[in-house]
Amino acid sequence: MKHYLQFNDLTADEYTYLFERATLIKKKFKAYEKHHPLVDRTLAMIFEKASTRTRVSFEAGMYQLGGSVVHLTTGDSQLGRAEPIEDSAKVISRMVDLVMIRTYEQAKIERFAANSRVPVINGLTNEYHPCQILADIFTFIEHRGSIQGKTVAWVGDGNNMANTWLQAAALLGFKVHVSTPRGYEIDEKLAAGAGGTSASSYQFFSNPLEACQGADLVTTDVWTSMGYEAENEERKKAFADWCVDAEMMAAAKPDALFMHCLPAHRGEEVEADVIDGPQSVVWDEAENRMHVQKALMEYLLLGRIA
Ligand code: CP
Ligand code: NVA
Repeated sequence: MKHYLQFNDLTADEYTYLFERATLIKKKFKAYEKHHPLVDRTLAMIFEKASTRTRVSFEAGMYQLGGSVVHLTTGDSQLGRAEPIEDSAKVISRMVDLVMIRTYEQAKIERFAANSRVPVINGLTNEYHPCQILADIFTFIEHRGSIQGKTVAWVGDGNNMANTWLQAAALLGFKVHVSTPRGYEIDEKLAAGAGGTSASSYQFFSNPLEACQGADLVTTDVWTSMGYEAENEERKKAFADWCVDAEMMAAAKPDALFMHCLPAHRGEEVEADVIDGPQSVVWDEAENRMHVQKALMEYLLLGRIA
């Protein structure tokens, strides 16, 4: 049994399979062709933080695969009334076939997985967001081909998205130019993850414009992630120069793409003319969450389909 708790949980070879499989699954969906490998299977989705894309993509995706979903939040389950996560995992995983969790500390999802009889998927933690990077790389491949040897510029917070990009770079052979304000740097231990190494795939730039130079993809995220709202005012000051604008896009390669996992704040981490401009692929990126996660759920439950 495999869990998907961080990007390093799958190998480069497994990602090659998943990207091919997602292409096929997406094509069938667009042609209104039925693809029901998960009939009678149930996905439990546990949200301890808000979500639009993750909720809709997993829920719609599971129904499209022929399965069904159960949606739980902290407020409407015993999770919010201090039932131990280990007990919740033991009970929920006796009744469903797959669990997706969005929560705070990575340690919490690891404790759940350690007590689960079924595969557990990380739908975002403070430390990682592997399903999003899975969708982002799939989107890059759709538009530009292989990401191997390419350069991604990360402009902004050294957060869950940044950590996951760095894990992916080490595993799939591309470079990340990281620019964060002082005090919001990447935690290299998290970026490397269990057994991984990011040293050769990661370069730090104090100037975000320099990080964008020659990049094939420029990407950013909110200045304040969920769970850090108390720091919002302080962050607004610290991040003022980390706004992806036309000048940064002009420093990147002429055919560079722009991505943002969304939700976005126009005028903060990105200017409207960039996110709504011709280089932006944010809507494909959001849609692709569903297609890649369908491939992931099918893989975790059924393995490779020949
Ligand atoms: N990108 C992403 O995970 O979006 P949601 O927070 O809406 O799920
Ligand atoms: N870094 C953001 C991503 C939201 C999808 C957060 O954790 O809030």
